[in-house]
Amino acid sequence: MTAVPKIDLAQWIDVDWETFDPWRIQAVNHHLQDHPQLRLEALVALAQRLEAKGSVRTHSDSAKAGTPFNSAPDLFPNAASSVDTLRNLASAQAWMSLLNIQKDPLYRTLVRDVLDELQPGIEKHDPGMSYRGGWIFVTSPRAVTPFHFDTEHNFILQVQGRKRVYVWPHDDVEVASEHARDLFHLNHERYLLRWRDAFRERAHVFELQPGQGAYMPSTSPHMVENGDGPSITISFTYYTDSTRENARLHAGHGALRKLGLQPRPIGQSGLSDSLGGLLLRLRGEYRNKAVHARDEYAEESA
Ligand SMILES: [Fe+2]
Repeated sequence: MTAVPKIDLAQWIDVDWETFDPWRIQAVNHHLQDHPQLRLEALVALAQRLEAKGSVRTHSDSAKAGTPFNSAPDLFPNAASSVDTLRNLASAQAWMSLLNIQKDPLYRTLVRDVLDELQPGIEKHDPGMSYRGGWIFVTSPRAVTPFHFDTEHNFILQVQGRKRVYVWPHDDVEVASEHARDLFHLNHERYLLRWRDAFRERAHVFELQPGQGAYMPSTSPHMVENGDGPSITISFTYYTDSTRENARLHAGHGALRKLGLQPRPIGQSGLSDSLGGLLLRLRGEYRNKAVHARDEYAEESA
């Protein structure tokens, strides 16, 4: 794991802005592990509020690295309520995510405070921050987050317990093909993203403990194995001009593939990129927020 320089001025997350590259996986340190809103009682209250809004995702610890991410809650349901899962996390045999915590007024403030601090540094390298969001993951011992990727840039920060995070570069087409990326950006299909155990050898591996974290660019595939104790993790996510452009190009190629065409990788053929963009506009029904959303905060689950 790469050593992280300590930067004393940051209140919440230490980032070396001189070397920050928005499309490179990198380690970070943070200072959120003692935040009062991340203690158990506060999270129990938040979980009650979010569950009432349908903003909790959960599955049992029977899900493994190769479980299809989108189907994990249906394939391996966790019957317990979010409150019971949290209160009995050590024995709950569960994985649970509190989705879009920025929907909650108390936690929108936390998302705002952390990303406001990061925004000036990010904007120097990667302008156009939008659709800001937060996610809290509570995990029983040895539970696994199945292999998948997401559209947002992501700071993932360990608050309690330990976990091993595997991340692969956003442009590693051995791990996630151009075709898989195209369909994901077109309509969130992840079925072409298929786990192989051999991928572990080419991953960036972060052995996270409280106070440590990682930055993963948009569509960096990842898989997480929890340690031997309960774990609490928080993620802060957002889109930028470059994630929207990347999503637009891939989605255009996804539309070409739906017509049976096989475009070259994005950026290698101006004709394919232009045709894809034209096709998206002609389809009309295309409303992917990863391409279009410029709202300050995300309002729906990704
Ligand atoms: Fe993820």
